[in-house]
Amino acid sequence: MSRMTPVYALFAFQLLIVAAVPFLCRGEDGPVDPFLNSSTPLPPDYNGPIFKLSHNYPTKRPAPLKEAPWVRALNGKPLSSDNALLYAEALKKHLSQDLKTLILDYKKWDSARAGWYNIPWLFSIQDPIHGVYTGSGFPRSMFPLSNLKKDMTTLVVVYYNDVAGYTLGRIWGSDALHPDVTKAQYEEGAIIVKVALTTATADDWAILDGAPSWDVFAPLPGGASGTPPVLFQAPVFQIDIIVKDSKSAPQTSWVFTTFVYNKDTPGDGVDKMVALGVMWGNDADVNSAVDPNGVLKQSVINPLAPLYATETLGYGGRLSGPNDGAVAQNAIVDGKLRPRLSVSSCMSCHGVAESAMKSFLLPGPGVPRATGSIGPGTQGDYIYLYEPGSLEFNRWFQSRAGNDPQDRGTVSLDYHMNLAYKALPLWAKYTKQDRALMFKDVPSGLKQLLMDPEYSSKSGVLMGHP
Ligand code: HEC
Repeated sequence: MSRMTPVYALFAFQLLIVAAVPFLCRGEDGPVDPFLNSSTPLPPDYNGPIFKLSHNYPTKRPAPLKEAPWVRALNGKPLSSDNALLYAEALKKHLSQDLKTLILDYKKWDSARAGWYNIPWLFSIQDPIHGVYTGSGFPRSMFPLSNLKKDMTTLVVVYYNDVAGYTLGRIWGSDALHPDVTKAQYEEGAIIVKVALTTATADDWAILDGAPSWDVFAPLPGGASGTPPVLFQAPVFQIDIIVKDSKSAPQTSWVFTTFVYNKDTPGDGVDKMVALGVMWGNDADVNSAVDPNGVLKQSVINPLAPLYATETLGYGGRLSGPNDGAVAQNAIVDGKLRPRLSVSSCMSCHGVAESAMKSFLLPGPGVPRATGSIGPGTQGDYIYLYEPGSLEFNRWFQSRAGNDPQDRGTVSLDYHMNLAYKALPLWAKYTKQDRALMFKDVPSGLKQLLMDPEYSSKSGVLMGHP
């Protein structure tokens, strides 16, 4: 059973946030600038474009579009399997020009001028050229059908549109020293985009043939900690786009979409990003473990999506992309080893975005990994999870509003993972919050990861992802 936390813990956390940050925030070697682009210097002799963290957040709420094209694509009907892919296409079309500049013509990209923003405090994990940081590590066994030949690590960067940038400004203020998690609810029309790259190349994974590539200057993920950064090329293979739209998504207020690279689609590198699917709730009333053929009404998968992207779909076929980590390998469920299980989804995982992150990302008891042996021939890395379809497991598959936390005694962060899992833990680290206090009710395995958010990035193991 989940532990209840007394209500005072909530207030204690907020007090901690408003009161305890020293005026001048000092890191190991002096004052730290939360808006620093990257703490990795540029490669020697590099003259190309660089990542400039855009943080001049709008202070007035930008007027929402009168009728957003993606809403218009629904023709007044509720989101459903009939029209969800049209919604996704309209959303992508609306962003296409900006995506093309960012992804294909980076020297012309100026995020501040284009009205896109970034979150502060990620400088220690961001590379100086594109601002990407380590997403998840995936063994090649994760993609058996599409024949990934080498283990890979993904790299990601997140951009917020003007409406979302307005909320970033409300959370962080002008100096980013006193985040206010009670302001973390986004306005209608907020759009957040996450671009995902991989360290695999087309030689390692044929699906990447012709994919647009970015220069990255970072320690090669997976190396020992302290390895120096190197310049390498990483193909872009997935773009997540989420939009706050409570009319189309009355239960959760968010529509999650994702686009994946498909080498066989005509056009340029952005045209070739095809919708994998759309999700606007967790289909809480479909118990997919009991009823594997239960029809989902809040996840729609594109029947024409490439195989590499459908082999890692989420629980019961709910939406999740190849970069997103909804499939657990070597799970231990009720004492038994389960080699491969789909246990998450976009909104299931994002649903645990809370000020204090009391729940693990995947439906498990919060001890993310254990290494050892659970019997003959089973030496390795394991992840402890609840039985799919059980009461405990189903807590991760509700369709809650973004201000309704999964765990009592914590503030819900409106499905915003980058805040919950990266920016807040890094802010806590660099402002020397008493992190032990901040995460005092957090299960121990998860606590370890939140207390050192850089550890996982450097070692190439994403916190909590399988
Ligand atoms: C198993 C967990 C998990 C799953 C599944 C998942 N995400 Fe995320 N997502 C994260 C984490 C953690 C972050 C924070 C940034 C990072 O570390 O990559 C994130 C960040 C994002 C962001 C940036 C905004 C934010 O909330 O921080 C977007 C957009 C996003 N994910 C979209 C999606 C979409 C769309 C899907 C499904 C196709 C998805 N995610 C599935 C864990 C997940």
